[in-house]
Amino acid sequence: MRTPVGAGVHFFYRIKKGLAYKAHENSHIKDWHILGLMKISGKPFNKTSLNMEVIRTKAASRVFHANEVATIALNKVSIQVNKGEFVSVMGPSGCGKTTLLNILGMIDHITSGEYWFMGKQADRLGERQRSFLRKKNIGYVFQGFNLIDALSVFENIELPLIYLGIRPAERKKMVYERLEQLDLRHRARYYPPQLSGGQQQRAAIARAMVASPSLILADEPTGNLDSTHGEEVMRLLGKLNEEGTTIVMVTHSQRDADYAQRVIRLFDGQVVSEDIRTKFLV
Ligand SMILES: Nc1ncnc2c1ncn2[C@@H]1O[C@H](COP(=O)(O)OP(=O)(O)O)[C@@H](O)[C@H]1O
Ligand SMILES: [Mg+2]
Repeated sequence: MRTPVGAGVHFFYRIKKGLAYKAHENSHIKDWHILGLMKISGKPFNKTSLNMEVIRTKAASRVFHANEVATIALNKVSIQVNKGEFVSVMGPSGCGKTTLLNILGMIDHITSGEYWFMGKQADRLGERQRSFLRKKNIGYVFQGFNLIDALSVFENIELPLIYLGIRPAERKKMVYERLEQLDLRHRARYYPPQLSGGQQQRAAIARAMVASPSLILADEPTGNLDSTHGEEVMRLLGKLNEEGTTIVMVTHSQRDADYAQRVIRLFDGQVVSEDIRTKFLV
């Protein structure tokens, strides 16, 4: 069963006798049989595998000290994101969205609390282990792109694949596939400073997606895009999520947030609401 991306169609998930089933969210429970209960991926799922947690923070705080002023950028944030979820994070400028994403991406450290990533307590791991986990599992779209100016667009996008030890011929194929999807093929040999803001953003998105990571963290991925490219990027994220990629996306756009199953709202470093759009009946 495939979800028409962006059409606002979501599924219920349910566990019965160790098997996971899904049905259209607008159906009543009694319609489940009419819809035809299906095993997800054709394999029996147990409760743990369906509900597998990718991210969990427990009272996670991040305090910045600058010029003798302490800023509580994150204040006891406790959130959980399960495998296959698409979660958007919203809130006013300065409320801690980027800080949260940096913590989740293991680029930054919490100052108190706990952060569990794929069953490992990330705040207790050393830098090498965190970096290994990040490269293996996470595609990150930075708010400021973070492209390397000295490398061409092709080389920037190729970088995660080199880290993963993928052979050159295979790398080239994978990079060109993403360049094509993000309408950048004609800019493969350009360098980031020669690109428009929108093109840089698309290159950053291509780099985050190229290795097919199991988790994509995206900080305002459509912030610099015109509406056509913005919609293309959202459709692409929706498709990746449909194929099983977990996504946490910071956005200011309600339209983009509508692609997500759940919206976490932050205010002054705290979670103020978690509006669940898909109901997990487990
Ligand atoms: N490196 C830093 N040093 C000091 N303060 C910071 C730093 N990074 C973020 N902050 C502060 O933390 C708060 C949250 O910032 P940020 O996470 O970037 O917000 P958002 O992404 O929601 O706009 C802001 O008050 C910001 O000024
Ligand atoms: Mg930000």
